[in-house]
Amino acid sequence: MLQHFFGLVYLLAVSQLVLFTGTHAAECPLQLNPQRVFVRYGGSVSVNCSTSIPHDGMGWEASEGAVPMSRDNLITWRVSNLREWDIEPFCYINPKDGDQCASYLSVTIYKTPDSVSISPVNHTGPMMERNQYELQCDVLNVAPVQNLTVKWYKGQTLVDQTTFTDTIKTPVNKTVTIMIRPDRSDDGVQYRCEAELKLGEEGPQPPPKVTSKPLSVEVYYKPKHSNSTETINISKEVTLNCTVKANPAPTYTWDSEHLKEKITSSVLTSSKLSPGNYRCIATNSQGRDSKVFIVRSTGSRPTFWTVLIFFQLLFALMIVI
Ligand SMILES: *[C@@H]1O[C@H](CO)[C@@H](O)[C@H](O)[C@H]1NC(C)=O
Ligand SMILES: *[C@@H]1O[C@H](CO)[C@@H](O)[C@H](O)[C@H]1NC(C)=O
Ligand SMILES: *[C@@H]1O[C@H](CO)[C@@H](O)[C@H](O)[C@H]1NC(C)=O
Ligand SMILES: *[C@@H]1O[C@H](CO)[C@@H](O)[C@H](O)[C@H]1NC(C)=O
Repeated sequence: MLQHFFGLVYLLAVSQLVLFTGTHAAECPLQLNPQRVFVRYGGSVSVNCSTSIPHDGMGWEASEGAVPMSRDNLITWRVSNLREWDIEPFCYINPKDGDQCASYLSVTIYKTPDSVSISPVNHTGPMMERNQYELQCDVLNVAPVQNLTVKWYKGQTLVDQTTFTDTIKTPVNKTVTIMIRPDRSDDGVQYRCEAELKLGEEGPQPPPKVTSKPLSVEVYYKPKHSNSTETINISKEVTLNCTVKANPAPTYTWDSEHLKEKITSSVLTSSKLSPGNYRCIATNSQGRDSKVFIVRSTGSRPTFWTVLIFFQLLFALMIVI
């Protein structure tokens, strides 16, 4: 209590010094080492205050770890479990010749979030291709929010980030959202969000961060063949492959005047397929897509034309003669 009272008195004295003598406070013959500290909430800290001039006493004033006025030339402010968000320690001195002055220590107390989690907003289950969805990232109990960056990753790619301007020193909760419009290539992709405390070069390295568990996105999309027709020449064995990517997995039907039985597989393999058109339709809950296989007989047709031309030539020759 008494220390607090003296602290206030010194504080008043210092502010008057600043008011009346301007630059005097900046010339206070005290060295703080380090001049600026970053302390994890609940962590320990120690800072030396030293002087090289003769004095009648110096001390540390702080709501925790205060050092009473002493004749030493080096005094240490020390706290082993710092839990005061608004602590403002300063070291003061009464020089033998000159006025009392003080040096303030810059203290940043930080706390990594208790949790970082990602979830879809108002949605469960698979997402439909090209629809818009919202994802939210919840960051619980982080400080100081001014140094917080929330980053969004899609796979390994950084897709968005948010910073904050609030100057509050105590822990806060923050919720950040992004809009996504998934397409078929996003099926199975993982989103993550990451809360990072960027405290600057003098701060802890690497910057402390907490990453959410990944959120796997399932996307429903309809079948779509890359070509809607394909021409296949008959050979020993013919394979018509209608397999197409889609989610959920498509079912298949085949349609042709040459097919008697119902076929439900995606691949049609046969050693004797008649030439003609074979249409296959792939269907899932999102839609359907068909593909036509044109089966052409090679070999027989050129022979037919060769024979025809041969007889026409023969006929022409006979007329000429
Ligand atoms: C503070 O001073 C003590 C004693 O001289 C020394 O051991 C310690 O390393 C100093 N700490 C810093 C941060 O300079
Ligand atoms: C979620 O959906 C409900 C009902 O459709 C709606 O009332 C609510 O505003 C939605 N919340 C958000 C955050 O979109
Ligand atoms: C943050 O959210 C948690 C859980 O909802 C709650 O217990 C806590 O009080 C919140 N903190 C602040 C600073 O609002
Ligand atoms: C059919 O095509 C799919 C996709 O292109 C392929 O994975 C599969 O192995 C093919 N099947 C046959 C029997 O060729």
